[in-house]
Amino acid sequence: MKALILSGGHGTRLRPLTYSQQKQLIPVANKPVLFYAIEDVIEAGIKDIGIIVGPNKEQVMETVNSVDWDAEIEFIYQGEPKGLAHAILVAEEFLDNEEFVMYLGDNILRGGIVDHANKFKELNPDSLILLTEVDEPQRFGVAELDENGRVKKLVEKPKVPPSNYALVGVYFFKPIIIEACKNIKPSWRNELEITDAIQWLIDNGYRVEASIVEGWWKDTGKPEDILEANRLILDDIQPKNEGKAENSRIMGRVVIESGTVIKDSVIKGPCVVGKNCRIVNSYIGPYTSIGNNCEIEGTEIEDSVIMDGSKIINAGRFVESLIGRNVKIQECNSKPRGYRFIVGDNSDIVL
Ligand code: TTP
Repeated sequence: MKALILSGGHGTRLRPLTYSQQKQLIPVANKPVLFYAIEDVIEAGIKDIGIIVGPNKEQVMETVNSVDWDAEIEFIYQGEPKGLAHAILVAEEFLDNEEFVMYLGDNILRGGIVDHANKFKELNPDSLILLTEVDEPQRFGVAELDENGRVKKLVEKPKVPPSNYALVGVYFFKPIIIEACKNIKPSWRNELEITDAIQWLIDNGYRVEASIVEGWWKDTGKPEDILEANRLILDDIQPKNEGKAENSRIMGRVVIESGTVIKDSVIKGPCVVGKNCRIVNSYIGPYTSIGNNCEIEGTEIEDSVIMDGSKIINAGRFVESLIGRNVKIQECNSKPRGYRFIVGDNSDIVL
């Protein structure tokens, strides 16, 4: 079986971060979201991975190639992001008439995909889609199942949902899906929708089965989703301290990477602090991830993601914040006093 991981798209809902960074590279617990998907498919024994890349293809390729994966990885350029079914068509040559799992590169599944891959092999359907029970099915793509648990119909954001089962961003397919993708028309948002391709399979008598995801699943499409995924992953971390702490208290499950110095501070887990950081006279509270090469002084931070190279000095107290790379936030020491902002388009500031 092959794997097709999607790492294209514009990620408009995560602007301004996605002006300079492909959304699947945004770190969750200091690891790019995309790496969780790659690890899951490798864990399922898949050795042949195609990654769909789009607008920021160079940075995705560079980041993925910086790791020595136990699999062959090929990059497939999608050009314009014209939908998930379009991504399959672009990958037709790579897929080479084999069955495959398609994994959206901004999704994280706690339990991985091993059980679902086994179910796909065992039931041998034309497609197996992953579903999870949600409270507000109106906000998702929803599946209607028949009495045998087979998929009868898919509906996007239904006003009257036929079930509480929402589609998770992982799908298993036989090569017939290529024909389905070739036979559908673009939707109102001008994308070739994967739900339409799966519906084509059902309408043409092909068998689509469902597999229910039991652990948590997170689609990291919006800022609050990144923070939530960060909390969920940090809930499972194993403590490790490779840094140096002076006159500081480190409580709970905390990861501190090498080269980091913590001085006169309190760190309360679960949280991770990357390599070569300097944390002085500060409080780093639960559910915080701090990237590499950050400097934090005289500041309290809780429940936040701070990316590589950021410098936060005497800046008060931060909660539920998402701070990009190389951001500087510091106390104003000169007159006239007041907030001084240089923020990018579509930034979001709550004072
Ligand atoms: P979306 O979440 O719809 O991705 P998007 O980048 O369009 O986001 P936004 O709505 O914020 O603009 O897509 C799901 C995943 O699939 C995501 O990882 C991006 C990827 N993708 C592609 O690789 N190619 C595509 O043509 C599309 C539409 C998405």
